[in-house]
Amino acid sequence: MLAPMAGVSDMPFRLISREFGAPLAFTEMIDVRAINQRDKRTRKMLISSPEDRPLGIQLLAADEKHIEGTLDVLSEYHFDLLDFNAACPTPKVTRKGKGAALLKEPRKLRSILKVLVGLSKLPVTVKIRTGWDEDSINARDIGLFAEDAGISALFIHGRTKTQGYSGVVNYRNIKEVKDALKIPVIASGDNLSLPLIEKMFRETGCDGVAIARGALGNPWIFRETINFFQHGTITEGPAIDERIATIKRHFDLVLKHYGEERGVGIFRKFFIWYTKGLKGTKQLRDKAFRTDRKDLFLQIIDELRKFDAH
Ligand SMILES: Cc1cc2nc3c(=O)[nH]c(=O)nc-3n(C[C@H](O)[C@H](O)[C@H](O)COP(=O)(O)O)c2cc1C
Repeated sequence: MLAPMAGVSDMPFRLISREFGAPLAFTEMIDVRAINQRDKRTRKMLISSPEDRPLGIQLLAADEKHIEGTLDVLSEYHFDLLDFNAACPTPKVTRKGKGAALLKEPRKLRSILKVLVGLSKLPVTVKIRTGWDEDSINARDIGLFAEDAGISALFIHGRTKTQGYSGVVNYRNIKEVKDALKIPVIASGDNLSLPLIEKMFRETGCDGVAIARGALGNPWIFRETINFFQHGTITEGPAIDERIATIKRHFDLVLKHYGEERGVGIFRKFFIWYTKGLKGTKQLRDKAFRTDRKDLFLQIIDELRKFDAH
């Protein structure tokens, strides 16, 4: 499935990932207080379409205080699953007792999850890390507390909060959680390519994998993964025609979602990811940074054909 990514997992990105087979996707983490305030930017994050299903929303909160109001607001939108973030390592988040800070307070996390499970009509899941730091690995205990709260599945990123997004993924820690729990455990961390995804399944026995950075500029990773695990076939990466058509389609979805004025700026980072690793394309990325116009951006995308390695 597609893992939640702040600043990335918007509806256009989810739709593109689904076109290539991602069976489940999430919004980025959204603070319960922002939802309750119903500001414009947050409301935009809550919007989805019938093709954008099943969809999970990921919530961020330090305690259970604002949750009831949040669920009221959310009842006006369509979600299939409610995920709670106890994994985000950003200091801005953890300083306020949210995200990975809750790994240090398993009882508090359990009571938040209990409230969510009690009040929500949707299945509730949680996303955790292996622990706060190397000296306080406690994912197994956290997982047992969370299971006790009645959640339906657990997502685990196999790194500590201190590791952030670098350093090695601890497959053993994920396996310990998988072995201890009855509910499905979905593993995250360096699921960047088919061999690494295969390794994740093999070493942890996990029930599923969440793909994050591996999907940036590479929605085809879902097709490759599904073809391999469901049909036993190896799929080639996209030919240049498909690559260009997909980038254009993604661009179009972004423009529709955000409007042309904001859309071009928002799409730039995706274009960078789509072209990363394609030899000689730096000048195209530079050009993309210099234009605010849709027609010129489309021309830049077409120019990619010149860099086709085949
Ligand atoms: C840009 C970015 C934003 C992220 N935002 C979130 C988020 O909002 N919620 C969350 O649970 N994880 C978030 N993550 C973590 C990913 O979901 C994933 O667990 C992590 O990147 C490890 O997977 P990977 O090594 O395959 O990228 C984010 C990761 C990245 C790179």
